[in-house]
Amino acid sequence: MANDLLKGKRGIIFGALDDQSIAWAVAERCVEEGAQITLTNAPVALRFGQIDDLAKKLNAKVIPADATSNEDLTKLLDESMEALGGKIDFILHSIGMSLNVRKKRDYTDLKYEWHHKTLDISAISFHRVMQLAYQKDVMNDWGSILALTYIASQRIFPDYNEMAEAKSLLESYARSFGYHFAKKNHVRVNTISQSPTLTTAGKGVKGFQDFYDYADKMSPLGNALGSQCADYCVTMFSDLTKMVTMQNLYHDGGFSKMGMEPAVLGM
Ligand SMILES: NC(=O)c1ccc[n+]([C@@H]2O[C@H](COP(=O)([O-])OP(=O)(O)OC[C@H]3O[C@@H](n4cnc5c(N)ncnc54)[C@H](O)[C@@H]3O)[C@@H](O)[C@H]2O)c1
Repeated sequence: MANDLLKGKRGIIFGALDDQSIAWAVAERCVEEGAQITLTNAPVALRFGQIDDLAKKLNAKVIPADATSNEDLTKLLDESMEALGGKIDFILHSIGMSLNVRKKRDYTDLKYEWHHKTLDISAISFHRVMQLAYQKDVMNDWGSILALTYIASQRIFPDYNEMAEAKSLLESYARSFGYHFAKKNHVRVNTISQSPTLTTAGKGVKGFQDFYDYADKMSPLGNALGSQCADYCVTMFSDLTKMVTMQNLYHDGGFSKMGMEPAVLGM
């Protein structure tokens, strides 16, 4: 159901790879709510993913950018403002990649070269985007910037491996940059901590399906779907949440507040 919540707003959506991606659903919902957007992903993802189908459907320009490259990101911000006809109201950072997980290295045996890359792609890229947007004065007053995170940043989920540190850093950047952006021109910065979701990045985590089922049982409302995450993102980009900033917002069906759930023990 559309309510024109984002009518007249301009946004940049990172991370739509295929129709399972959370960013894919967010892009669709934002346009449904009246926003104009540009889509971006790493050049290699553009070759293998399905982003062109989405772009066609949403009448959105695709601008390739490796989120670890200042040059690419500068071009992305400039071209987005040009394509959308003005400054930007919202940005979604929906990027995650772990080299050690991909190459099956255990947390107690990390290869640091890969660890640096993981942090660069999955967390520092968020600071990079914000720093460039801040310095280039890209954001409209009362704009909204979001990144997606996972509760393994705060609690132990052993198979989440080095991504736990990446997400902790990501959440910390939201708090720190949220301060500076609020002072500059009332832009808010938050992270949404989403339930396990069946996507390419999600399924890369060892034992994902078992864990997905466990979280579904543990959460009183069940796991939050990607499409529901998209709804939440829309509210966070809308003018209805202007005073929410520097927060890590749980969108997890109640999982983060649970201690014990009898159903998990088969009771
Ligand atoms: N799936 C889950 O269970 C889950 C739960 C909580 C949070 N999240 C987070 O949601 C976000 C989106 O992930 P998803 O689950 O939709 O999976 P996804 O695999 O569809 O999305 C990850 C995206 O990151 C992009 N990416 C990787 N390296 C990049 C680079 N160098 N530059 C630019 N983009 C790059 C990929 O191309 C892909 O589009 C991630 O931050 C992920 O950690 C996912």
